[in-house]
Amino acid sequence: MKKIVLSMLLASLGLVAAEVPYKSGLMLPPQADKIYAKECAKCHGDDGKATSFAGSSRITYGVISGMDAATVAKELKEYRGGEKSNDYRLHNKYGYGSIMRSATKDLSWEEIDAVAKYVSGLK
Ligand code: HEC
Repeated sequence: MKKIVLSMLLASLGLVAAEVPYKSGLMLPPQADKIYAKECAKCHGDDGKATSFAGSSRITYGVISGMDAATVAKELKEYRGGEKSNDYRLHNKYGYGSIMRSATKDLSWEEIDAVAKYVSGLK
């Protein structure tokens, strides 16, 4: 019996130590680097400098690395929508705001603030 309890204890310790895959909304404090890698890098590149989808020159947008964090956070909240306020209007800077809406709709306000800071730190 003691052995079983001990091995169960060790197994649960192992579970805690193993890296938990990122899922939006589950991690507090928000893990900005993982959010960026999972939700943003495929379109904006690992460095935030991609300005179109790989293989498509039709849809173009700005470089986001090094942007002011407060500006990025405001833009992301406007793309995301969901908050009725005069400060936040649905954003559609290049005509593809709906693409950014689907990329941000599952992010919490806290996650947006964290990922905005991460983007502003990209070089
Ligand atoms: C499916 C592709 C895609 C994904 C994923 C995506 N974006 Fe975008 N992003 C775009 C497009 C397209 C635009 C231009 C939208 C418009 O017309 O306003 C854009 C615009 C932006 C802008 C505004 C740029 C400017 O010039 O002001 C920021 C900031 C931004 N994205 C950050 C992010 C962040 C942070 C994430 C991850 C949470 C993300 N994006 C995920 C495609 C994407």
